[in-house]
Parts: sequence; C-alpha cells; structure tokens
Amino acid sequence: MPQIIPFAKVPIGENERKYIKEVLDSGWLTTAGKTLEFEKRFAEYVGAKYACAVNSCTAALHLGIDALGIQPGDKVFVPSMTFTASAEIIRYMNADPVFLDTEYQTNLITPAILNQAIQLHPEVKYLIIVHYGGQAAAMPEIMKICRENNIKILEDAAHAFPSRLNGKMVGSFGEVSCFSFYANKTITTGEGGMLVTDDEAIYKRVKTMRLHGINRDIWDRFTAKVPSWEYDVVEAGYKYNMPDVNAAIGLGQLEQAELFRTERQRAVEYYYAHLQSLEMIDLPLSHVPNEDHAWHLFPLVLNEKANISRNTFIEKMSEAGIGTSVHYKPLHHMTYYKERYKLVAADYPNAERTWQGNVSLPLYPFMPEDDLAYICNTITQILTQPQPEPQPEPQP
Ligand SMILES: Cc1ncc(COP(=O)(O)O)c(C=O)c1O
Repeated sequence: MPQIIPFAKVPIGENERKYIKEVLDSGWLTTAGKTLEFEKRFAEYVGAKYACAVNSCTAALHLGIDALGIQPGDKVFVPSMTFTASAEIIRYMNADPVFLDTEYQTNLITPAILNQAIQLHPEVKYLIIVHYGGQAAAMPEIMKICRENNIKILEDAAHAFPSRLNGKMVGSFGEVSCFSFYANKTITTGEGGMLVTDDEAIYKRVKTMRLHGINRDIWDRFTAKVPSWEYDVVEAGYKYNMPDVNAAIGLGQLEQAELFRTERQRAVEYYYAHLQSLEMIDLPLSHVPNEDHAWHLFPLVLNEKANISRNTFIEKMSEAGIGTSVHYKPLHHMTYYKERYKLVAADYPNAERTWQGNVSLPLYPFMPEDDLAYICNTITQILTQPQPEPQPEPQP
C-alpha cells in the first residue's frame, strides 16, 4: 500500500518562493546578503550577539568544538541516545567521546546523570548537551555544574528551534549553540545549520574556519573597496558556508517559526489526549510547558506490557500507510563506537529500555485532524488486538 501519511512533511509556501525569487533575480547564489540577513534575524530571534550560517548543523558543531579550543586526546561527554553527528565531530578533532545514559522518556542528560559521570570521569573537559526532540535540558543547573568542574559546553540544538526555558530561548544560554535546518527540522533551508554565540573571539574563529581559513568572506571581497583578489589564508579551514539560495528558504521559514511550532504542538496535544490511556506505551515526558517545546519529535516507547515488538509495530503502521521513524538506535550499539570504545549496553539502562521499543510518530505543521485520528486509531487497534500465537517449529 502506498504511504498515505508521511513521517515528515515540509511546509513550503509563497513566503519562501518570494525570497528565492529575489536571490535568483539578483544573480548572486552563493553566500551574500540573504545569508547575512538570515544570520542577523536568527541572532535576534534567539537573543544571541552573533550568528554564523553554515551548510549543516554537523558543520556548526565541528566549528563550535574547534572554537572552544579542544585538543587531540581530550575527552567529551555526549549522550548515547543521539544522532551520530553529535559524537562524530569529537572524532574529527582526534578527541574521544565518553557516552552518557539519558533520562527515560525525555532522553536528556540531567544534572544527576552529569554529576555521576563527573565522579567517574573527572578528566573530561567538554560536554555536548543535546536538547533532544526540542525540549531544553536543565541548562541553569547543568551550566553551574560545568562551571564548578571546568567543563566547556557545546549545545547541540539541532532539534531545538524555537525552544525556551524559564523564558529564555535555547541559543541564549551557553557559549556556543548549533541548530539544524535539515529538511525534516522545525524550520528548514533544505540543508543548513547555524552557530550562535555571544563571544566575539569564538565568532571570529568560526567565521574564518567556515570558509577555508580565509581572512575575508566572498561577499566582503566583492563588495569592499580593497581589490577583490586580495586575501590571506590564516588557517587550514573548511568549506562550510551557507549559499543564499538556502538562506532565502530560511528567511521565509523563520517568519513562520512560531506558527509551525504551534501547529506541531496541536498535533502533540492530540496524541497525548488520544494515546495516554494505552498502558502498553510510554509517552514523552515534558519538564517544560508545552508552549516552550519545539516539538521536533514525538517519540513513544512500547513498554513491557506491549504484546508486539517495535519492528513488527513499525511494519504494521507501514502496512496501514503511516510513516514512522526511530530516534535513535543508541550510539553504543553502532559498530564504530561500540568496537572502538568497547561499549557495553548494561552501562546505558535508560537508553536500552528506550531502544527496546522506541518509535517516533508523524509530526509536522498543518496535520489534518482526520490523519491524527487515523494514526491514533491504528495504534490503538495494533496494540489491543490479540497477536497470533507463535507457531511451533516444524519437526524434522
Ligand atoms: C541531534 C542531532 N545533532 C546533529 C544533527 C546534524 O544535523 P545536520 O543534518 O544539519 O548536519 C542532527 C540531524 O538530524 C541531529 O538530530
């Protein structure tokens, strides 16, 4: 059966088309005025001094950890329950991840988890905190612990725009926060990311490393009075700049960010209202008011009362035409990390419990109520209908 309700759907409309047309008409497609405008508006939105647009959140995280001054051999706390990008950037720098368990039903690193980890690994100098699913981690407490233990924080806010905590936007807490504008994120540029900071030295380092370690960006070279050919290379940098075509989509999306967030919240509230009586699933837990949550994901966990495995559940949803996903297969199960760091599942009990049954439901703006009803009815049917008894093995 063809899929009738996708897992994710990008809302693109006239606003994005208007900005893209301006870029196409300008004849300047790579990084220029639209990117600058997107950076300025994004920084204002999250309440940060500086924003640097790049071509992915992975690039932003890489530039961020470099700018924080990491050295080869340094150790970095990172959750196991995250996308590989959060950890791979540590390896880009020849440093090593120390994987942490996360809280069940939020998949966040909590102050208690962090305190325990510091006792076990006092040598760790960095923390990558992931605002999983769009819910902010407990930043004031986590920042206090890190200050007391000389640990620098890099915020992986790939899921967390727009997210708030105690009235402050994610992006205005720590030294460096990195956002993703990948196609299924809460706002998109197709591919793209943004690094924000209040620290001028970090900003300058990131701007240089973003474009080959060149001391002037292309826009500056072609618009300034100094001859455009003249530039210096001061570092071996990267090619991570965001083209204006992408920034144009971002500008169009940014203006609708709160509308999109409200729309996601509407779908989430429908899910809570119609699924919470099912005792065989654990729904996501929120420590913040619904209005402060970006709701990038709605991950549920099939618990020990469910008479069906996660994989069979996903197959049945797919047969019913409903797209789902899994966030995440924890990194301690991924061959590269598991083998290199000799990781043992028993060290991550909450992530393990989640991994046994985690499924993310479709979630995007403007989901028709009929679709939400169909999804909830299908889930109820799958979980409450008796499953066929396992067949005995045929005798030889
Ligand atoms: C937690 C997390 N961090 C980082 C990334 C990387 O984002 P990007 O695809 O923009 O590089 C993702 C992507 O899904 C993510 O989920």
